[in-house]
Amino acid sequence: MSVCSSSSSGSWSSTKAWIVHGIVAGVAIAVAIGARVYLGPPKKFRSRVVGIIPARFDSSRFQGKPLVQILGKPMIQRTWERAKLATTLDHVVVATDDEKIRECCRSFGADVIMTSESCRNGTERCSEAIQKLEKKYDIVVNIQGDEPLIEPEIIDGIVKALQEAPDAVFSTAVTSLKLEDAFDPNRVKCVVDNSGYAIYFSRGLIPFNKSGKANPQFPYMLHLGIQSYDTGFLKIYPQLEPTPLQLEEDLEQLKVLENGYKMKVIKVDHEAHGVDAPEDVEKIESLMLQRNLS
Ligand SMILES: *[C@@H]1O[C@H](CO)[C@@H](O)[C@H](O)[C@H]1NC(C)=O
Ligand SMILES: *[C@@H]1O[C@H](CO)[C@@H](O)[C@H](O)[C@H]1NC(C)=O
Repeated sequence: MSVCSSSSSGSWSSTKAWIVHGIVAGVAIAVAIGARVYLGPPKKFRSRVVGIIPARFDSSRFQGKPLVQILGKPMIQRTWERAKLATTLDHVVVATDDEKIRECCRSFGADVIMTSESCRNGTERCSEAIQKLEKKYDIVVNIQGDEPLIEPEIIDGIVKALQEAPDAVFSTAVTSLKLEDAFDPNRVKCVVDNSGYAIYFSRGLIPFNKSGKANPQFPYMLHLGIQSYDTGFLKIYPQLEPTPLQLEEDLEQLKVLENGYKMKVIKVDHEAHGVDAPEDVEKIESLMLQRNLS
């Protein structure tokens, strides 16, 4: 692979490539004291970024969910408007299999890419969408359409995390877990190493205190559903065979860790207000009114 390869496939190894190059060129000292001085200013790693909002009409729990009105605007529009505020995204696109969603998104000015109905989940839809986009991108952010209050800063945070961690192919975010959610299997917990790489995700409480109760002093972390991928990795991700821990916990992201890939995790302040069921709409509307968001 060429040193300055900008091709997306395998680009996560390019930092290693230039270190080796430096030694070969006889500037081993430069490597020791910072190769940058000798090799010129670094090109920003994984600089081209696209945000994809996967949206499907048929949801078992909530038909037509992306189009539900939230204080007078379709939910998908609210998510898109938030994503457009992220400064690290070069482009934001909705990926859908549904004509009504496409028409709606066109009407408020979003770019839309049609994907097949066979996509089993958002990751697969992002993977298909990236292969259909004309331009090349290094990073894909998977922005879930059911989080209309997603902060643009969180999107920027996971993008920067992936740009700054060349050995990772995936980045995501966590926030503090509320103690009352400790044993709720729908709240996914996460533990990370000293450098902020994911060790494990679980529906059970991790780490587990031997008292059998949640420890009010421990900073447990709740996983948020936003993630970004190296484009080369996203292309192979759906094809990786399901793995034992992934299947047992029913957590897609475990497949990444079980295959030995690294995942960078950032910690953010965020109250999750996902819309999963019709009754969540009213809750989020009253919250927005309270906080003067409209
Ligand atoms: C378990 O939780 C308690 C508080 O509930 C805490 O004092 C203790 O340090 C924790 N760890 C162990 C190993 O007991
Ligand atoms: C989503 O797609 C991925 C990638 O193909 C797959 O491994 C995973 O099992 C799917 N997850 C769900 C919840 O269907």
